[in-house]
Amino acid sequence: MESSVINAKPVARFDRRRLLNWFLGTSFGALVLSVLYPILRYVTPPRIAEASTSEVEAGLAADPVLIEKGFKIIRFGADPVILVRTADAKFYAYSATCTHLDCIVGFQKEHSRIWCNCHGGGYDLTGRNVIGPPPKPLTAYKVNIVEKSPGNSTVVITKA
Ligand code: FES
Repeated sequence: MESSVINAKPVARFDRRRLLNWFLGTSFGALVLSVLYPILRYVTPPRIAEASTSEVEAGLAADPVLIEKGFKIIRFGADPVILVRTADAKFYAYSATCTHLDCIVGFQKEHSRIWCNCHGGGYDLTGRNVIGPPPKPLTAYKVNIVEKSPGNSTVVITKA
């Protein structure tokens, strides 16, 4: 009888210690995971599928936003492309990545030029670098206007 009482206490202490170790171990693991996971997500680039085809539909040619702003940025696989629509309904498409330090370019409708706000770089409507630090022209894409249905034209961009 006495020997069973002596044996019972160490088992109970061992169980409490194991439980405490398990609790601290999993808490520490959860803490480490909750710190490391966001950091890993931040430094790992997102997976964006490359364009499976060599063409991308960029929306309606008469897109009101495109007419109002004169441009929009679309994705060609993982690459940003700037689609420009001038007042006389001419379309141009270029890589939207500035050739200086990779900022995304925009379009200044009032000056009819592609513009990079980062360091004041400018390109003309042929994609040629004409103002500021960009060292080379933008990569050109082909623009085709496809009439899907009467009065409903779509802009299709392909690699040049
Ligand atoms: S990144 Fe465009 S001008 Fe510098």
